[in-house]
Amino acid sequence: MDKFVIRGGNPLMGVIRVSGAKNSALPCMAAALLTEDEVTLENIPKVRDIETERRLLESMGADVALREGEAQDQTTISCRKLSDPVARYEIVKTMRASSLVLGPLIARMGMARVAMPGGCAIGGRPIDLHIKALEKMGAAIAQEHGYLEARVDAGNGAGRLHGAHLVFDRITVTGTEDLLMAAVLAEGETLMENCAREPEVVDLAALLTAMGAKIAGAGTATMRVEGVTSLHGARYRINPDRIEAGTFLMAGAITGGDLTVANCNPAHLGAAIAKLREAGVQVDVLSEDAVRVRAAGRLVAAGISTEEYPGFPTDMQAQYMALATQAEGVSLVRENIFENRFMHVQELVRMGANIKVEGSMATVRGPARLSAAAVMCSDLRASASLVLAGLVAEGESIIDRVYHMDRGYERFEEKLVGVGAQIQRMGNVFAPREAQAVVG
Ligand code: EPU
Repeated sequence: MDKFVIRGGNPLMGVIRVSGAKNSALPCMAAALLTEDEVTLENIPKVRDIETERRLLESMGADVALREGEAQDQTTISCRKLSDPVARYEIVKTMRASSLVLGPLIARMGMARVAMPGGCAIGGRPIDLHIKALEKMGAAIAQEHGYLEARVDAGNGAGRLHGAHLVFDRITVTGTEDLLMAAVLAEGETLMENCAREPEVVDLAALLTAMGAKIAGAGTATMRVEGVTSLHGARYRINPDRIEAGTFLMAGAITGGDLTVANCNPAHLGAAIAKLREAGVQVDVLSEDAVRVRAAGRLVAAGISTEEYPGFPTDMQAQYMALATQAEGVSLVRENIFENRFMHVQELVRMGANIKVEGSMATVRGPARLSAAAVMCSDLRASASLVLAGLVAEGESIIDRVYHMDRGYERFEEKLVGVGAQIQRMGNVFAPREAQAVVG
């Protein structure tokens, strides 16, 4: 299992580039299931979750081809032959976003068999809202042997979903995406209310529109979809990853560096930029695709409360908490989206942070002197938080289980090394060194 060995203390300086958004790429790849034609996606990040989705699509009979080394890397997906519309547990259990194939499979094939995702480190994460809405569109869904068996019956064959008035009980990102993909091929109009407004939903809607779908209101709470009988192929470029960009902004800020985050979309970073400024960081939006962060004296405490977009993203909460350990005063961090997204706290405390958790609220007292330790990643964003802490801790930290990080960050350590961080990836770290780091 790979680990990172990080020596803290270097301010990050220079330019760091952001990859394509994992959470856009995942639904966009699933959207290829909706057509017999080829869908070509550019700017797909090279991360483990994308690899998992590729395996998932291939296991159903899709052809997925990656062309590298041209002006842009391109992934072309052809779902002409879908021999086996089953999302097997072996794949779904490693990536919950696999449930994104449910809507498109039912829409295209009139049936689907998708393993139920289990629990997850950050919370229960049920998909009841996806199921409820698909049922409202005419799918009969039963659960058996850990699988969802979905069908739309029409007399003697697989039928077509029908449009419906859907009101999500709570805002769900992949739920909105799943139902959007179901609605584009449904008969008649679907009105979707209380939709997620995340840029990733807008990305998916843009791809679907390029494929011939009729969608109004993407990026707002109310979407209206006029179903069409078929969709055609398209080429689409995935937007930059706003969470990776925000993580880099926080890395620049926590190390007291001077870092320009390039190839990002500042318009998607409003909440993070506002909070960094409140915490005393100088943030300059340089252009339509670049933001610069610089230390401007001491960091000061500023609380956050995670919210759906455009609020402060839950996917940046852990990284912000690492930053808050270095800010003077008391920062209150409230997690409103997931019930168990404080797994990084105990690891940060082992590095010397002063954090108390009560329910969904963490109280961070700073600034704390962080000292290197051997710590363990529990999920993707917790991993990023520990790396950020390692960048300012005194001594050599060992971050274990970085496979969590590899699920969603492309070449994370290489990119950071490029702007001055001291990070080494180790396939197998010897015990004596580990012991040394715990003391350091
Ligand atoms: N929820 C339900 N029932 C449902 C669906 C969601 O109760 O049917 C609850 C969830 O348990 C959670 C809340 O609603 O408490 C919001 O969950 P949501 O469905 O929005 O999360 P998601 O779609 O499963 C996506 C991202 C996550 C990100 C969340 C919130 C993808 C592939 N994943 O998950 O990304 O944290 O939205 O913004 O888009 C990550 O990248 O590290 C990550 C976890």
